[in-house]
Amino acid sequence: MHEGLRYERERTLPSGDDVSRAAEVLEGSDPEEILRWAVDAYGEGLTLSVSFGNPEGMVLLDMVSRVTDQVRVFSIDTGFLFDETVRFREEAMARYELPLDVVRTELSVEEQVERYGPQMYTCSPDLCCQVRKVAPQRKHLAKYEAWATGIRRDQTPQRADTPVVGWDEYFGVAKVSPLVGWNSEQIEEYAREHDVPMNPLLGMGYRSIGCEPQTRPVQEGEDARAGRWDGSEKTECGIHVANGKVGRA
Ligand code: ADX
Repeated sequence: MHEGLRYERERTLPSGDDVSRAAEVLEGSDPEEILRWAVDAYGEGLTLSVSFGNPEGMVLLDMVSRVTDQVRVFSIDTGFLFDETVRFREEAMARYELPLDVVRTELSVEEQVERYGPQMYTCSPDLCCQVRKVAPQRKHLAKYEAWATGIRRDQTPQRADTPVVGWDEYFGVAKVSPLVGWNSEQIEEYAREHDVPMNPLLGMGYRSIGCEPQTRPVQEGEDARAGRWDGSEKTECGIHVANGKVGRA
């Protein structure tokens, strides 16, 4: 633990200045160390977001489970997830002791189809993500002080400037991204070493998994995210900032 970055849970939460300072001091630190800082600073005010689609979330889940059993995990179920993802979510959580909140929008898929038509995910993908993912996440995070996420800087040019920890204006909480400095090989190595369970679709040509209607497998040599929102300009669902903008409807 870096000197001067320790917070007792009962004590005041990190201020904006503390967060900026932590971002500087923790830059380049191991993900485990960043996580320990976040657990120490926010205690039960921290929650971990895991999609159960991609390897990063599983690696973070494994790391967090080695540090604490107090942090709650949340996963947004848009209603359009692959059956494999839903099944895997249950299987994987049988292995980890952390409590899981499955977060859903109040609008069922049937109500959405009735109100907006059958293919809102194709016609208005930003609106679909906003309704089914971004808004429920915002409501959920209102109960917390900080969220941890598995994004990496080298995933997309838009993610390249992601700080280790920063203030997330839209969600009104701090955002901790312990894996920002890792590449996909490091993720794979950690997963192998610790025998971390993975979504079965990852062994079937899928390399970045989101909602079923907007995810396809990728070919050898294609970017891992090429199969997300294929055929549209969209590259982000809206829970992460992109190019200073967020691609939200
Ligand atoms: S996305 O914006 O394109 O969908 P990506 O799949 O790269 O995001 O995942 C990056 C991180 O966003 C994950 O490590 C996780 O922290 C968070 N995330 C993405 N989708 C979900 C979800 N359905 N539920 C919870 N967290 C998610």
